[in-house]
Amino acid sequence: LRYPVICIDGPSGAGKGTVTWRLAQALGYQLLDSGALYRIVGLKAFEAGLISADVSQAIDEMAVLALTKSLDIAFVPNNESGCVDIIVNGEAVGEQVRNETVGGYASQVAVFPKVRQALLKLQQDMATRSGLVADGRDMGTVVFPDADVKVFLTASAEARAKRRVMQLVNAGQIADFETILATIKARDDRDENRATAPSKPAKDALLLDSSTLDADMVYEQIKKHCQEKG
Ligand code: C5P
Repeated sequence: LRYPVICIDGPSGAGKGTVTWRLAQALGYQLLDSGALYRIVGLKAFEAGLISADVSQAIDEMAVLALTKSLDIAFVPNNESGCVDIIVNGEAVGEQVRNETVGGYASQVAVFPKVRQALLKLQQDMATRSGLVADGRDMGTVVFPDADVKVFLTASAEARAKRRVMQLVNAGQIADFETILATIKARDDRDENRATAPSKPAKDALLLDSSTLDADMVYEQIKKHCQEKG
């Protein structure tokens, strides 16, 4: 038995997270936040001293692989929030992975083919239990190449940086547009130009640019596309 899979790929800040969550809620599907997996590995690798903020420093791929394999990662549906909690070594992973610093660590470990391979089955298994909306970079190209619906949601780096500034300002934090823009561009560059599973649209993906769209418009367009795909 194969359950329906909807893939939403694209760079960070394009609005994937919001639309993925809304689709999963509306359809009663599970949600796979694949970026969280790379964030967890990135954070653990940083804590273990295997990577640093200095991206020019060489990284021991086999050590990151061993660490990845040592992690006991489980997705547990949370009926209260309607989301899927990620449990690592028995502990729920929360907001500590949701910042740009950890996003940078994630993209450093995400370049390694062996690390990606080690996380593959965990992701694919999610589709053996129920319908799935999967958010990431390579959902439609590598993890679920036979998915029913594929969307590549993008936006200009400037639009994404502006959104991030607004989020931080609304949270009462100080945000510098130029610094954020440079960080976004550096992460895009690493994700798009790596040799294995680079961030790019699948051949059969709907391309959607959200630079001038709000979250409702993005949701409506993707919902319509899902309906057209049956
Ligand atoms: O989507 P998110 O910003 O949480 O992803 C963090 C990082 O994890 C990305 O910048 C990318 O390097 C990596 N990633 C990936 N493949 C995925 C999801 C995320 O390489 N499917």
